Amino acid sequence: MIISPSVLSCDFGNIERDTKMLDNSEADWLHIDVMDGVFVPNISFGFPVLEAIRKNTNKILDVHLMIANPDAYLSAFKKAGADILTVHYEACPHLNRTIAAIKELGMKAGVALNPHTPISVLEEVICDLDLVLIMSVNPGFGGQKFIPSSIEKVEKLKKLILAKNASCIIEIDGGVNLENGPLLVKAGANALVAGSFVFNSINPEETIAKLKKL
Ligand code: DX5
Ligand code: ZN
Repeated sequence: MIISPSVLSCDFGNIERDTKMLDNSEADWLHIDVMDGVFVPNISFGFPVLEAIRKNTNKILDVHLMIANPDAYLSAFKKAGADILTVHYEACPHLNRTIAAIKELGMKAGVALNPHTPISVLEEVICDLDLVLIMSVNPGFGGQKFIPSSIEKVEKLKKLILAKNASCIIEIDGGVNLENGPLLVKAGANALVAGSFVFNSINPEETIAKLKKL
């Protein structure tokens, strides 16, 4: 199980300390939420913050773009240190082209689906993807409640991957904790994002270790 703690829930006044804590933890990736106030009703951070995170960790940076027109910024995200770049299906009218461009830049390519978007929209691109990110909350904010029907979406995605003989990672993002974690693993998830559950816990490193054991 890949654990990708979301930096969005860290203390930004102590971003160096929190990034180093994640670097020393059992986390596999660091999840980086980029929001533009257009695609989602919130603004998080951009390139300078991503570069600062990059300086403090050797872990894989799993960058989740919640922005309109991501095509305009793909090479800038590569330059800032992204290893995996995930764009939203809902923000990409030419998804096939966007995925190819991400790969040409030397990054792994992911596609995220909002809670209302069915798995079936990925039928024609699933074989080209390194990762699918299923949103289990409406994107834009940390600390929201997990949408239970996301578990069924994981099962549907797993079926599609098997049917198409594809080999992409299934990642879940939003409201993930130790209660729904086992159900997500059972349904076929390979990677779990956790923000508030990690950072609001008394011992974040220990919480990451517990998630890692799922
Ligand atoms: C939500 C973001 C998530 C968020 C998860 O729009 O994409 O990555 O940081 O936070 P929690 O785990 O608190 O739901
Ligand atoms: Zn995210």
